[in-house]
Amino acid sequence: RDEPLVLGIETSCDETGVGIVRGHTLLADAVASSVEEHARFGGVVPEVASRAHLEAMVPTIQRACDTAGVALSDVDAIAVTHGPGLAGALLVGVASAKALALSLGKPIYGVNHLAAHVAVDQLEHGPLPEPCLALLVSGGHSSLLKVTDITGYDGGVDPMGATIDDAAGEAFDKVARLLGLPFPGGPHIDRAAREGNQVAIDFPRGLSTRRDLERHRFDFSFSGLKTAVARWVEARERSGEPVPVADVAASFQEAVCDVLVRKALDAASSEGIEDLMIGGGVAANSRLRALAEEQATKLGIRVRVPRPGLCTDNGAMVAALGSTMVARGRTPSTLDLPADSSLPV
Ligand code: KG4
Ligand code: ZN
Repeated sequence: RDEPLVLGIETSCDETGVGIVRGHTLLADAVASSVEEHARFGGVVPEVASRAHLEAMVPTIQRACDTAGVALSDVDAIAVTHGPGLAGALLVGVASAKALALSLGKPIYGVNHLAAHVAVDQLEHGPLPEPCLALLVSGGHSSLLKVTDITGYDGGVDPMGATIDDAAGEAFDKVARLLGLPFPGGPHIDRAAREGNQVAIDFPRGLSTRRDLERHRFDFSFSGLKTAVARWVEARERSGEPVPVADVAASFQEAVCDVLVRKALDAASSEGIEDLMIGGGVAANSRLRALAEEQATKLGIRVRVPRPGLCTDNGAMVAALGSTMVARGRTPSTLDLPADSSLPV
């Protein structure tokens, strides 16, 4: 009961998330998504997302408080994603959080969206082992982070590598579109792949040749893979034969997961780190989870992945990181906290 009650707000993309935690106990995780409004455009439309956040914000705050059985006046601190993400979308969350902090007379903590994807695991598996190696894979990012302090204090979240083109989730979404699957495509590829053969087609593993590894040992590239899938599908269509959707999905998914897991484990081993944490929307992928577990075990590396519902964008992850900041005595933000669409980790 003594631990602080923290309310977290997430609006960096198309999910309006409000989470409430006490310490690292999850009390509520209310999410309103505008994903269906974007589906017909095949991607998130920033203006549509911002408006949807405005409409959903207050009801989602209310729903989170009701679920947690707390009054707003009980909240000890407000945490909010202030970047990276869509500028207009972030502004709605940041402005809302400031209004709450000001009216309640409580501190506000600006949190980094990427670090929050990692911090959320504490709600499920307890305190984050530090140092740990975090593989962050979402619709907008694919990064390897060496985490010595998840609050980012004193360089505590250190980027070792990142994608040089598309993010992993973006690749899933684009390939799904090629295969005629709905947006966002990740979960649909995941499902289709279960019926397919992952070694049916040998798709390229990005940045994996010896020469690539010299300069890009811990970096990713998925645009060449996406193009290879497009060419393969086009050739099939030209030949008049049906496209084996399940086999393409499984082989593509294997190419992505293979590189992600190999490079993440290489990064962890190179730093002598024994804990791998996987976060972000793509961490919900069943093959990624299984492959990481299987390969890590061989190296004596432990893997932590939050349950799928905590991998995709939500407010609980923001509250979780805010709670860690409070616990570690980090200085709160001021009320002029800016939204920063390209906030680095
Ligand atoms: O973290 P997130 O919810 O939002 C961003 O911060 O980007 O990630 C969304 C991404 C989308 O690209 C979606 O297709 C992907 O995560 N995703 C998946 C799965 N579930 C969501 N990708 C592969 N397999 C899944 N099961
Ligand atoms: Zn995200």
